[in-house]
Amino acid sequence: MLPAPTPDALAHSQRVAAHLRTLIDAAGGWLPFSRYMEAALYAPGLGYYAAGAMKFGAAGDFVTAPELTPLFGRTLAHALAPVLAETGGEVLELGAGSGRLAADLLGELERLDALPACYSILEVSADLRQRQQENIARKLPQLVDRVLWLDALPAHFSGVILGNEVLDALPAELVHWTDNGPLSRGVIVEGEAFAWQDRPIADPVLRARADALDLAPGYVSEINLAADALIGSLAQVLDRGLILLIDYGFVAAEYYHPQRHMGTLRAHYRHHALDEPFYLPGLCDLTAHVDFSAVARAATAAGLELAGYASQAGFLLNSGLTELLMQTPPSDAAAYLPQANAVQRLVSPAEMGELFKVIGFGKGGIAPLAEFARGDRRHSL
Ligand SMILES: C[S@@+](CC[C@H](N)C(=O)[O-])C[C@H]1O[C@@H](n2cnc3c(N)ncnc32)[C@H](O)[C@@H]1O
Repeated sequence: MLPAPTPDALAHSQRVAAHLRTLIDAAGGWLPFSRYMEAALYAPGLGYYAAGAMKFGAAGDFVTAPELTPLFGRTLAHALAPVLAETGGEVLELGAGSGRLAADLLGELERLDALPACYSILEVSADLRQRQQENIARKLPQLVDRVLWLDALPAHFSGVILGNEVLDALPAELVHWTDNGPLSRGVIVEGEAFAWQDRPIADPVLRARADALDLAPGYVSEINLAADALIGSLAQVLDRGLILLIDYGFVAAEYYHPQRHMGTLRAHYRHHALDEPFYLPGLCDLTAHVDFSAVARAATAAGLELAGYASQAGFLLNSGLTELLMQTPPSDAAAYLPQANAVQRLVSPAEMGELFKVIGFGKGGIAPLAEFARGDRRHSL
């Protein structure tokens, strides 16, 4: 049984739905799913990420790794410090959520005496940007001057570009493979409700991608052209350094496996995963898993070198997660047990350890990352 929204939340969702209906009308009665998803998540003042919903943590809709434990960001600091030292560069975080990852990472870099001159955050949501500013100022008042919020990617960048669960939040195209070839699955209005309608694919890039996948009639899945575009832009601005992206997903052979014929698109509402993306627009997160083969292809086509691809468990364990946990003595059960539980969730194959992956791309000849040395799966991409 899903928790009922408050009257205010319901009224907000009705305003989001009205906005989506206006967009569909303005587009002639049919909107590609990617545009529906973009508006439902990011329409200023209305979308899930652009309005005041709680989103992260126990009181929100889903939990991300940085929200589970500070050990996630602290461990990443150990992996990234050598790249910062080698490049003399900075950190640029994409989609920083509540700002916890930034705070934990910066705090640990300070302890390691490896602080970058600047930690920039590129965040599309004005609401989240404000939350990040408040959280970082509260947790790290001494470092807040080093944190900068950007409205667009810089022209040039050296150092580390980092994104946790950003790719899955990018608007994805939906494709329905039929006897007559692949069709673009879009959204129409039926009465007051939203419904699916398939149309021929107008975009030649999407058409080529869908044709190349050649899936059986009846198969519905996502193709994320926005991820390709983002990676292309990151490749352009990165002069020297590393791009590290962490997210849930698979290589193409698993992503487009015959058994996954309904795709990976999900709505998240108060810790329930729903197959129905039209439920309470504006109150639900919408996500699609990441096709890491496509991400790797886009990156290498844009001139990046694949630095490694590993499970989240493998990468974090190689980066010293257990050693950081053991800094809290197990005899101090009140402090140790919650952290040990969180670590278990990060690395357990039944939880985030296997489903989540870490992919890294280098540019400018940076040294190989030791964290990818054991368990690197780049051959599988
Ligand atoms: C699922 S949340 C993850 C938040 C945070 N990284 C975490 O792990 O808790 C996705 C984040 O990506 C942001 N985002 C979405 N599209 C983006 C883009 N094109 N550039 C930068 N941030 C983006 C969202 O506003 C949100 O902060």
